Amino acid sequence: MSDDPRTLDQFDVSGRSALVTGAASGIGLAYAEVMAEAGAKVTITDIDAEGAAREADRLVHEGFEVRWDTCDVSDIEQVARAFDHHVAAYGGCDIVFANAGLDVGDSFWSPEDKRNPSGQIDVYSTDKWDKSIGINLTGVFHTVREAARVMKANEANGGRRGGSIVITSSNAAEVNEAIVGVPYMAAKAGVKHFMRHAAYELAAYGIRVNAIAPGPFVTNIGDGWVKKNPRAKEAWDRLVPVGRMAETYQIKPLALLLASDAGSYMTGSHVMIDGGMQLGSVKPLND
Ligand SMILES: NC(=O)c1ccc[n+]([C@@H]2O[C@H](COP(=O)([O-])OP(=O)(O)OC[C@H]3O[C@@H](n4cnc5c(N)ncnc54)[C@H](O)[C@@H]3O)[C@@H](O)[C@H]2O)c1
Repeated sequence: MSDDPRTLDQFDVSGRSALVTGAASGIGLAYAEVMAEAGAKVTITDIDAEGAAREADRLVHEGFEVRWDTCDVSDIEQVARAFDHHVAAYGGCDIVFANAGLDVGDSFWSPEDKRNPSGQIDVYSTDKWDKSIGINLTGVFHTVREAARVMKANEANGGRRGGSIVITSSNAAEVNEAIVGVPYMAAKAGVKHFMRHAAYELAAYGIRVNAIAPGPFVTNIGDGWVKKNPRAKEAWDRLVPVGRMAETYQIKPLALLLASDAGSYMTGSHVMIDGGMQLGSVKPLND
């Protein structure tokens, strides 16, 4: 037997701590759950304090070490405070998921299969543009900024050197989607390249930075319209090459790979998990 670590042992994150943004729901909640399952101490942060508290309480009740904090990622002071609270509670920060995001809407094509007047570029709301960029792109910068700050200090604080940052991007970083608002495309494409830059800069500090780019997952994004509207869900299922939208449990193994030592040679990767959506275009556009 060689001295190499055993493969499954490399997925163990016991004794480490993880902070997740936008973790009261959907994909962020799945990240928090898999980190707890794999042994990490977790902070659930979200703009939705009630939801964060509810999910943290549930996981504590299930026997995991989980705390929660309120944090709007578009506000750098709230992000810095959430990281400071996490470090004070757990003594450092090894894993961060920069996940919070939303689609502010007004796509140029409607789910009813026609042009959507308020989604056209020539009239698109500048307030919606600013809100989407402020959360989906600047919010990721804020989170990575504070993650780098605390991870650079891990070793001096007696912890493990460096850490792993995982950003939630989207297949929208690669493929344009007619039924998602235009700023979301720009924000997620920006997230992808920012992730690569951060990975390049932070590699020397032992900090890995990667992105998960999901295709369509059943979550509460867009006010949960896919959950509320079975016909919209069926329409989406038909668009995906594998024939169905994903459930959030399906993102957990990839999240654990990137967060743990199992992904120790991965940095700067933008990993698609999209049921094949990247393989062909969605083209309802001959109006
Ligand atoms: N669901 C999908 O199909 C899909 C596809 C690609 C990418 N994504 C990305 O996944 C991430 C998570 O989305 P989801 O689908 O799980 O949606 P979701 O709505 O279920 O969860 C998003 C969470 O983020 C929180 N949030 C919203 N604005 C916030 C802010 N300013 N600060 C902090 N928290 C905030 C919400 O309260 C919510 O709990 C987003 O970045 C989204 O763009 C989702």
